[in-house]
Amino acid sequence: MALTDMLQIPPATPITVAITTVAIAVAIFLYFKSHASNHSRRSTHPPPVPEVPGVPVLGNLLQLKEKKPYMTFTRWAQTYGPIYSIRTGATSMVVISSNEIAKEAMVTRFSSISTRNLSKALTILTADKTMVAMSDYNDYHRTVKRHILTAMLGPNAQRKQRVHRDFMIENISMQFHAFVANSPKEVDLRKIFQSELFGLAMKQAVGKDVESLNVEDLGITMKRDEIFQVLVVDPMMGAIEVDWRDFFPYLKWVPNKKFENTIQQMSIRRKAVMKALIKEHKKRIASGENLNSYIDYLLSEAQIFSDEQLIMSLWEPIIESSDTTMVTTEWAMYELAKNPKMQDRLYRDIQSVCGSNKITEENLSQLPYLSAIFHETLRRHSPVPIIPLRHVHEDTVLGGYHVPAGTELAVNIYGCNMEKNVWENPEEYNPDRFMKENETIDMQRTMAFGGGKRVCAGSLQAMLISCIGIGRMVQEFEWRFKDKAEEDISTLGLTTQRLNPLHTVYKATSKKVDFLNKPEEVVAEVNLWAEKQTSGLIKEILPLDAVNIDTRLIFANAVYFKGVWNEKFDPSKTKDYDFHLLDGSKGEDNRRFTMYFFLPDAKDGLQSLIQKMGSESNFLERHVPVRKIEVEQFLIPKFKISFGFKANDLLMELGLVLPFDHIEGRLTEMLEPSNDGNLFVSGVYHESFVEVNEEGTEAAAVTAVVIQAQCMMIEEKVDFVADHPFMFVIREDMSGVVLFMGQVVDPRVT
Ligand code: HEM
Repeated sequence: MALTDMLQIPPATPITVAITTVAIAVAIFLYFKSHASNHSRRSTHPPPVPEVPGVPVLGNLLQLKEKKPYMTFTRWAQTYGPIYSIRTGATSMVVISSNEIAKEAMVTRFSSISTRNLSKALTILTADKTMVAMSDYNDYHRTVKRHILTAMLGPNAQRKQRVHRDFMIENISMQFHAFVANSPKEVDLRKIFQSELFGLAMKQAVGKDVESLNVEDLGITMKRDEIFQVLVVDPMMGAIEVDWRDFFPYLKWVPNKKFENTIQQMSIRRKAVMKALIKEHKKRIASGENLNSYIDYLLSEAQIFSDEQLIMSLWEPIIESSDTTMVTTEWAMYELAKNPKMQDRLYRDIQSVCGSNKITEENLSQLPYLSAIFHETLRRHSPVPIIPLRHVHEDTVLGGYHVPAGTELAVNIYGCNMEKNVWENPEEYNPDRFMKENETIDMQRTMAFGGGKRVCAGSLQAMLISCIGIGRMVQEFEWRFKDKAEEDISTLGLTTQRLNPLHTVYKATSKKVDFLNKPEEVVAEVNLWAEKQTSGLIKEILPLDAVNIDTRLIFANAVYFKGVWNEKFDPSKTKDYDFHLLDGSKGEDNRRFTMYFFLPDAKDGLQSLIQKMGSESNFLERHVPVRKIEVEQFLIPKFKISFGFKANDLLMELGLVLPFDHIEGRLTEMLEPSNDGNLFVSGVYHESFVEVNEEGTEAAAVTAVVIQAQCMMIEEKVDFVADHPFMFVIREDMSGVVLFMGQVVDPRVT
């Protein structure tokens, strides 16, 4: 927990000055009293923990103001040793910056240090410790931790959640590609990654990632980014809000209404949103949907929960998922951008294990260097630099020193991970320190996930997402810094979040082949590559005669997109309806119904719609609606389209003639100089495939469909019945890049 942000002293008013005067008198009395009693204890106990000198009343508060506290703590450790005590106002705090003593505190002496004394803000935001991570170690903690591991974060649950992670990683990759294709400048890794992590957390916790939500208690409908703000951003900021009474508990009777109101409002809004999400989910259960998320488990297995406990148990993984994993991944990408050799080494490792396939979780055990990068990032950039404060509730001994009951305990993970006698050159980012032969990396070696009975419950999920995320980003892009971003290592917030995002450039991969002697093999290899890139949807992009002894180069790119509907269609409700073909006949549509599209009013209006789209500039932008309307009847046919052609003639018709010209082609500069003569394009081949069914096709397009329905801009419910030819577009929303565009004239024809 970041303490620096807790150290702002409120501005003085006449009342606070008077109160402060009394406070100082009381505090000085307590200060000397506590010193006197410490002194008298010395003869019977192990020695007291060495103290960092401070000033009366404020103790060391002012010294902590300047820098991030974990840095200051680590610096003090060099002078005062691996364990020392400080005072934050009237509270005495012991700080540990050593692996060994931290383990002693978290494991051996755990029974004396297993409660928490929360700040005022955290007491409100955690509904008085109704969270695993912030509760005391008691029955409630054990029960809920067991539930969350069984249903969401443990190995079995993570196996079942795999589909959500894969979907998320595909989405992240697709958004980066769309971003880079559109404007190859700065890519905000954080924005994309964090938003997708939030989506994953929502699916895991409450069964669905929502685009908007009617929050009855607040009388408003919230969009996704507002929901994110209320559930994640506000509470993260609230957790580090400062109430000066936290430092002077004997002054807690003094009102601080403004502070309390701010935090209470955050808590009320969060509760209202969570209540609305739970209500929506109960509706889905009542409609017979087969769901398998944490909420389903809690509703069926843990009926003993009060409403408040249910809300908090579901909110907890949402806030915990959305930040730390992203922080780790972003720091890893920072280090890889800074160290091109490491980036290359990881890229080659992945190539040798995965070939042209995308990296998957099955590959992780064969990629020790990737794992080493993950762990070294956790060590060097400890995402949670200080473990949320523990409270010493009975006298104990740590590192050979006496620690009295009533002390707060700060385990400075950052300091432990920078300890010189444990880590050689700790300042240096060096994944090789985790590459010892035959050594499987102990998840707790870096202390980044804490340890003992309160070890992080989400470490497996964090590792899987972060490793696959890093792997895919290195497989598909080359990471370089933008201007002086390399020097920028500023952090902000509760975790060690980087201040500024990273910058990426697209990387194409190349391979040498033997056109002269093995043209058939080259064709087979390109086709196999296409098949892999499109997960088997496109098996043959090149015909056998496309390559011959004169071929010098083949460029290829592939887009593969897979997604599920936000709300799946119920196959039992799929019916056969008439589809009105352009010739006026009715084709029997024995397929099921799905998809997003531009449906002309007239049954034969498709051609004029296409013309309009082609001739009007920004047609799509101008027809993407800004708000949502309710659709009464929503019917669309299931369909499958596969289409392939040699595009030479079409491109030449469009005016792209020169590259095809045997004599004038002159693409010579693309290759090293040789006596080969002219280079020209001999063929451009294109294949595409789209399938739509009840499960979905892709998520971005789901959004587009919903939005499409909105463009009519009318208040009453409308029917949307695609029973005649229509157009569809699959578009990435953030960048506006169109991935696929097609027309369905007869859904029976594939
Ligand atoms: C790289 C990512 C992460 C890091 C570095 C991290 C770190 C930590 C740390 C240091 C603790 C405190 C342990 C203590 O108090 O002794 C903790 C606790 C916890 N974390 Fe994580 N965490 C990460 C990701 C996650 C994720 C993704 C989730 C859930 C979705 C999660 C859920 C929890 C829970 C429930 C606890 C409380 C455990 C307890 O008190 O028994 N964490 N984590």
